[in-house]
Amino acid sequence: MIETNYKDHECGKLRLEDIDKTVTLSGWVATVRDLGGILFIELRDRSGVFQLVANPQINPQVHEVFGKVRSEYVIKVSGKITKRPPETYNEKYPTGQVEMYPESVEVLSESKVLPFVLDDENVSEDIRLKYRYLDLRRETMLSKLVLRHDIVQAIRGYLNKLDFLEVETPILIKTTPEGARDYLVPSRVQEGKFFALPQSPQIFKQLLMVGGIERYYQIAKCFRDEDLRADRQPEFTQVDLEMSFVEQKDVIKVVEGLIVDAFKAAGVEVKPPFTQITWQEAMDRFGSDKPDTRFGLELFDIGDIIMQSEFQIVKNTLQQGGIVRGIRIPGGAKFSRKEIDDITKIAVSFGAKALANIIYQEDGTPKSPVLKFVTDEQAKAIQERAGAQAGDIIFFLADRPKLVYDIMGRLRLHFGKMLNLIDESKHALLWVVDFPMFEWSDEEQRFMAMHHPFTSPNLEDMDKLKSGDLGNVKSIAYDIVYNGTELGGGSVRIHSSEVQQEIFKALGLTPEEAEEKFGFMVNALQYGTPPHAGLAIGLDRLVALLARTDSIRDVIAFPKNAGAKCLMSGAPGEASIQQLRELHIKSTVQQQNK
Ligand code: AMO
Ligand code: AMP
Repeated sequence: MIETNYKDHECGKLRLEDIDKTVTLSGWVATVRDLGGILFIELRDRSGVFQLVANPQINPQVHEVFGKVRSEYVIKVSGKITKRPPETYNEKYPTGQVEMYPESVEVLSESKVLPFVLDDENVSEDIRLKYRYLDLRRETMLSKLVLRHDIVQAIRGYLNKLDFLEVETPILIKTTPEGARDYLVPSRVQEGKFFALPQSPQIFKQLLMVGGIERYYQIAKCFRDEDLRADRQPEFTQVDLEMSFVEQKDVIKVVEGLIVDAFKAAGVEVKPPFTQITWQEAMDRFGSDKPDTRFGLELFDIGDIIMQSEFQIVKNTLQQGGIVRGIRIPGGAKFSRKEIDDITKIAVSFGAKALANIIYQEDGTPKSPVLKFVTDEQAKAIQERAGAQAGDIIFFLADRPKLVYDIMGRLRLHFGKMLNLIDESKHALLWVVDFPMFEWSDEEQRFMAMHHPFTSPNLEDMDKLKSGDLGNVKSIAYDIVYNGTELGGGSVRIHSSEVQQEIFKALGLTPEEAEEKFGFMVNALQYGTPPHAGLAIGLDRLVALLARTDSIRDVIAFPKNAGAKCLMSGAPGEASIQQLRELHIKSTVQQQNK
């Protein structure tokens, strides 16, 4: 520790070995108690708590000051460490065998009564965020920041050993290709122009590869103006890395080593190589590109059987390019009518038009409204495909592939939780590979890049790219998934300006638009670009999962709330007319308020 006149020891580290040492401590008053005229204070600093005692007979001046001290005052004390009478040992604290009757005490700072009790676990998150600086005094918050620090140090240590160079990239930039909405910063000097805040350092890290850096990393702040959820913040942190002269398998190996060390810092042992499954397999088996493989309930396809049947409504869907997927719930035949209705309602709330079910009754016979459309043989074939036993129920849904995957994937997670099937002690890490290059956007009525437009298409699919068969072009992209959360993603990049232009064209960018947006990037690719690849891990998500908390807000010192607001400072705030004028901006809101 750093010894100063305020403190030469840390509260939480004092032990029996320290008896008879004279020490100076400073910290916060966690509690003050009066037991028969003797005053006890628990003094807290970052390292933990330590008991102080003031007896009017032994240290009267100190006793007098203690009498005026309240919770969360900051005080400094000096005195000798003494042994507590064994019958008063406090097993709750590592310092529970020692105490101090201070010879002197000084109040360094007083405190108002706190707006909430620190060790009350039921305080609303809004209050905690408003007074985050007080919230951070709680052990549970401190321990998460410590864990975050330890994980970051482990990652830095690992990458440094592999000769990665930590390089900072700019925050005021042009625009990034990650596909979320940009945060914009108006330029005062260049009238009518805006910087964007980086959604990731993607372009810059690729330019570092053109610049010969070969192995780069950064603990990088990223900004995305998107709808927030428990695992999304408008500003968040990535462990961002990029390497030259590598292929997918090389990045995967480096990242697996990084994950091993990061998990070790959290006391969790994991063993690579992690399972790899293709995107298509992930969708078919789990209905998700970030499957939680800690439990089964895998989906199955009964399209071919339905096509033989008289189930016209579903057959129509299949004929129009739809798919059908089912899920089997072991023992589900005992669900009541209401339980089945509730499950159907959940599927509808996820966007389903209907959800069919077949109950395989205890006597082995099937029961379902859909039996009027399928023969006994077909019902048997469905049962076999589902692997259903007497006593099980299956649910199935037909619709457009994207909807079926999404709804059945979410339903699977719902059953996993509802039936308590998720083994919380498991650490399921896996790679999802072979992503499609493009994804159809209903909103924009065009193909968009599934990762980002600098991702290399699978070179075997170049013909499809050229002929416009975009839905079937695969990319060399990979995601790492942990217990059903996407921890990170990356890809092999395009290192040829021709291919890059081909992709921009496929994405519907005119040569002028591509030039305007990313021209400097395409230009750079023409000056000797090494083959390169990389990945970024969401640090907040990684730490939150290892800290076993549901919300990434818990592992960020000063997070925004779900409305993208800082409840503590009130940001975002208003700008004065003068400031806006300097920035050449007219605010319609401000004018209305005038
Ligand atoms: P991607 O967009 O997949 O890839 O982001 C990488 C990881 O960052 C985390 N993440 C977030 N965490 C918190 N809040 C958010 N709003 C948020 N958005 C993303 C996720 C995600 O897996 N440049 C590429 C990486 C690359 O290709 O190298 C990129 O940013 O954990
Ligand atoms: P009925 O309304 O009795 O003619 O039966 C229609 C059956 O088809 C119901 O059991 C529905 O749940 C089922 N169904 C209708 N549309 C779909 C669909 N898209 N996917 C799965 N089942 C469906």
